[in-house]
Amino acid sequence: MHAIGVDIGGTKIAVGVVDEAGKILAQVRRDTDADDVAGIDRAIADACAELAKEHEVGAIGLAAAGFVSPDRTSVLFAPNIAWREYPLAARVGALLDLDVPIVVENDANAAGWAEFRFGAARDATDMLMLTVGTGLGGAIVVDRELVRGKWGVAAEVGHMRVVPGGHYCGCGHEGCWEQYASGSALTRDARHAVIAQPHRAGRLLALAGGDADAVTGPMVTTAAKEGDELSVELLANLGRWVGEGAASVAALLDPELIVVGGGVGAAGELLLTPIRKAYESQLSALGHRPVAQIELAEHGNEAGIVGAADLARR
Ligand code: BGC
Ligand code: NA
Ligand code: ZN
Repeated sequence: MHAIGVDIGGTKIAVGVVDEAGKILAQVRRDTDADDVAGIDRAIADACAELAKEHEVGAIGLAAAGFVSPDRTSVLFAPNIAWREYPLAARVGALLDLDVPIVVENDANAAGWAEFRFGAARDATDMLMLTVGTGLGGAIVVDRELVRGKWGVAAEVGHMRVVPGGHYCGCGHEGCWEQYASGSALTRDARHAVIAQPHRAGRLLALAGGDADAVTGPMVTTAAKEGDELSVELLANLGRWVGEGAASVAALLDPELIVVGGGVGAAGELLLTPIRKAYESQLSALGHRPVAQIELAEHGNEAGIVGAADLARR
């Protein structure tokens, strides 16, 4: 059976038709506004209707960047989107003239599931996925099972405190890991660096048309790939936060493989190498235990679509 997977992030949605082998057959995107939840419903319904015209689909999976209810119908809370006790499946269903089940999953759980079934973790039994995007998402597979927790909201690793008294987070606390290890953190740090170190920021500023506030994460990746020193440093700093935090998670879970996905994965080795280095530097009992592999998501930023579709079939 083919299914539709929808990845709903803070600024855009990506929607695809996915076959049983995890292959995306067709895909569309829509820009969204994180404060306009009804607008997000409409964008999802509109994109699904467009794809369902050309493809026969048996289920729809919605991967949402937030805390999802255990019955897979609603978003309880989202730090970066205005959902509060939001019955997402019902709202989208009411706008759609399709008689198929609609299932909501956490976006990182969906991405992790895609990598476990069809991607970088297909041979693993114990895996941690980290999605580095607007927020920092997590998915945990232990002994080949997705860990959901008692109330559906396990693996919210982005809200583990890493800096007491640190940056405010959309979840209401301070110093959460996602305030340091996310695309948003990269953007914040890059804008700050452009102002604090103008003599090193020429390339970034040029990419942003001369406006420090217009610097984005993808610009940092572009400049870093050209060899821009400041940008390479910004990515290395992000990688350090990801890797050190991952070592703490390893103290809890002992994964064999850590998969890194999300938009920032586009930076490739410029991010992975510092992640691996920081992971080893913080791993307890280094030298006396195996070190988990750390790899990029094979499905890149499309893992959420693939996993949401596959989980909706179950
Ligand atoms: C949210 C998670 C989500 C992650 C990635 C975090 O801020 O709490 O639910 O998986 O961002 O989008
Ligand atoms: Na998750
Ligand atoms: Zn938080």
